[in-house]
Parts: sequence; C-alpha cells; structure tokens
Amino acid sequence: MRFLVAVSPFIGASLAARPFLDVADTGFTDYLTKTAEWTEGKLPDLQDIRALPDFEFAAKQVLPEESWAFYRLAAGQEWGYRNNLDIWKKVPLRPRFMRDVTDLENNIGIELFGHNFSAPFFIAPAGNAGHSDPERAELNFMEASGDEDILYTAALYATKTIEELDAVKRNDTSNGRQVIFQQIYTVDDLDITWTNIQRAVDTGAKAIVLTVDTPGSSVRVRGARHSGVDYPAASTRPHTWDVYDEIRARTDLPIILKGIQTVEDAKEALDRGVDGIYLSNHGGRQLEFSPSPIEIAYEIYRNAPHIFQQVPVLADSGVRTGSDVLKLLALGVRAVGLGRPFMYANVYGYEGVRRAIRLLKNEIIQDGWNLGISSLEDLNPNLLNVKSLEQNVHRVTC
Ligand SMILES: Cc1cc2nc3c(=O)[nH]c(=O)nc-3n(C[C@H](O)[C@H](O)[C@H](O)COP(=O)(O)O)c2cc1C
Ligand SMILES: *[C@@H]1O[C@H](CO)[C@@H](O)[C@H](O)[C@H]1NC(C)=O
Ligand SMILES: *[C@@H]1O[C@H](CO)[C@@H](O)[C@H](O)[C@H]1NC(C)=O
Repeated sequence: MRFLVAVSPFIGASLAARPFLDVADTGFTDYLTKTAEWTEGKLPDLQDIRALPDFEFAAKQVLPEESWAFYRLAAGQEWGYRNNLDIWKKVPLRPRFMRDVTDLENNIGIELFGHNFSAPFFIAPAGNAGHSDPERAELNFMEASGDEDILYTAALYATKTIEELDAVKRNDTSNGRQVIFQQIYTVDDLDITWTNIQRAVDTGAKAIVLTVDTPGSSVRVRGARHSGVDYPAASTRPHTWDVYDEIRARTDLPIILKGIQTVEDAKEALDRGVDGIYLSNHGGRQLEFSPSPIEIAYEIYRNAPHIFQQVPVLADSGVRTGSDVLKLLALGVRAVGLGRPFMYANVYGYEGVRRAIRLLKNEIIQDGWNLGISSLEDLNPNLLNVKSLEQNVHRVTC
C-alpha cells in the first residue's frame, strides 16, 4: 500500500481516504451519494444504517473533529487497533449443515452471575458518551440496553454520574430491575477508589469491572493532535495485585478483571479468586501490538482451557459483526462487548443505540443459522478454522 502511494498520486488520494481495511465496503457511501438524499457532513437517515460500521461513517460526518478523534484514537501507530479489526478474516468459519436450526432465535440469551440477558453481547465501558450526545450521553445506553434486555457496563469516567444512571434503570427487564455492572479505575488516592466502589454498591451495581490494562497513560498520537499540549503530563495508576486483594476484601460483589491479555495473568487472576475475566486490549487504545481478543482467547484455550469452565470470560476489542461474536463464543467466551460502535451510534441518541443492538442481534441469529447451530451451546472450536491462530499461539508450561 505504501509503495502504491509513493508511485501514483491518484491511487494515493483514494488510499488516503481509506488507508486500511477499517470499515468494509458494503455499499453505504454509494447508496448515500447515488440513491439517498444525503450530502457530506450530514447525518444519514437512521433507517439507512444497515450494519454497525455504518455508524462510524455517520458519526464522522457530524462529530466535532476533537470528539471524533477521542472516540477513534488508538495507541501508537494504531497497529493493534487495525489488528483487532483485521484478525477476523484469519479465522474462517467451518459451518455444519443438515441440522435443525429453527430454535436459535429464542436461544441467544446468556446468564452472568445469576442474571439473564437476551443476547451474548453488551455495551462495553467507554467514558464520555457526552461527545456524541451532550445532553443524554450514557442515559441512552442505559435505556436502550434496558429495553433490549442486554447488559450495560458503565464506565467510571462517564459523562453522567453513577447516581444519574441508576435513576433511569428500567424496572421490567427479565431480571426485574435493570442489571448493570460498574467499571472502576484505581487512582493514587485509594480513598477515592473505595468511595467509587461504595457508590456502585449503593446504587445496586451487580458486579465490579476492574480495568487492569491501563497502568499508565498511553501514546495516543491522534488524540495529541487536539490536546494543545506538546508533552502531555503522563501518569500512572496503582494497578497491582495488592490493590486487587484490597478491593476483594472490601466488597462481596463479583469482581471481573478487564484487560487480561495473557494466559499467565488469567491464571493469576483465578488464583486470587476473581469471579470473571474480561479479555481486551482496550480497543487498541493502550499498547501498540497488544493482542486482539480472539488471539488471547485462543492462547487460553490452548494452554488452560479449563479457565472457560471455571469463571465467565468476557471479551471485547474490534467486534463489529455477528460472526465476530460467534467466533469468540466458539472458543468459550460467554459475552462480548463493543465500545466504539455504541459511542458512534449514540450520535442518533437512544434510537441509534437501540438500532445498533437490534442489528447485531439479527446478525447473530442469521449467522448462527448459517453456521448450523440451534443454540449458543452448540458453539465449539470445531466451527472455526484455527490454523492461523495455531501458527502464532504462545505456549507456556503450566
Ligand atoms: C472513547 C472510549 C473510551 C473508553 N473508556 C474506557 C474506560 O473509561 N474504561 C475502560 O475500562 N475502557 C474504556 N474504553 C475501552 C472499552 O471498554 C473497550 O474495551 C473498547 O472500546 C473495545 O474496543 P472497540 O471499541 O473496538 O469495540 C474506552 C473506549 C473508547 C472507544
Ligand atoms: C423504577 O422503579 C423505581 C422505584 O419504584 C422508580 O423510582 C423508577 O422511576 C422506576 N423507573 C422507571 C424507568 O420507571
Ligand atoms: C434465568 O434463566 C433461567 C433459565 O431459563 C431461569 O431458571 C432463571 O429463573 C432466570 N433468572 C432470572 C433472574 O430471571
């Protein structure tokens, strides 16, 4: 690609607009420019959004440049971000046929810590939804996830407070009052962290998601362009096992460690009594060349597969389609999160977030049919061609 850019200014221009296989071409821009009444810089009609990546294009039209950069940014030269999106094509499916798949439609629900949800995916904890909807921010995530009966995991650094989110919880989900999990970061003054955990407990959060993959601030080139600061004050956080042990001693809520990227850390987490682990490279926002969730899941599957039976395993980063979700589930992941797609969908407010959820549910059902499953229980590693994962997997002696 770089070579082509160098030799042809024309190809260079088109590649500049689409430098990586980032958003697949599903005819959205053709449709908008040739068929729909749409001009650049305007929000397309919500009804014209047909898949989650469409929301990214839509959000880019209307978000202020700085807000766009904040949502879209990734660490370093963004290789990890691109790998998260690219890796799926290296894990082809092995669909099985001549099986009755009619039941799948009613069988895509999951259970986590005794709570039931209608689909195996959730809204990942991403801070500052106020960029995409300044007034309603995360309230849209709460209400749309409540109405669609899926899990929302609130970010500590949300635009709305923990209490504001609690106030809009739905009362009529399959768990009765809406169940959410609360993400937490530790900070140097741990009294602040204890207070935050207590606020989550007081407002009825059903699990604490402790993010571990951010021991320090990260190299965020795309963000730095808008910060106005040449050498932004770098900072670190007290993310240590000692601090985890202290949190463990302070709350009875299930604790899920978010950002686990190796089988060694997964095992250490289990040894220390975590209730769940969450495989993630933070959407590629922290460390260049950190692994994608399917690579992490495969490393665990090959070195310590029992982990998937011992605790619920969650995962996110780069998930955009129903088949992405099914691939992670086939390796033993229980529930899959999405960050950016919901932030982008939020430019349409509640209706956008709800449409994103519905589109993804629909993809999971249709892809599941064509994969030959009649319930999520039917998913297993044989439905994947793992040759390419196997070539690169890290083996440890356990
Ligand atoms: C704008 C933005 C803010 C985020 N803020 C947080 C956060 O406060 N805490 C956290 O644990 N993860 C945060 N994340 C990471 C997400 O929880 C999730 O891991 C990531 O977005 C998944 O990758 P995806 O965007 O490709 O789906 C953030 C992600 C984005 C895009
Ligand atoms: C849910 O019930 C609580 C307590 O009864 C109430 O305060 C709240 O307004 C209800 N929420 C909604 C969205 O109706
Ligand atoms: C969750 O679903 C299971 C199985 O369908 C059911 O037995 C259980 O009562 C449900 N739990 C809640 C909280 O609704």
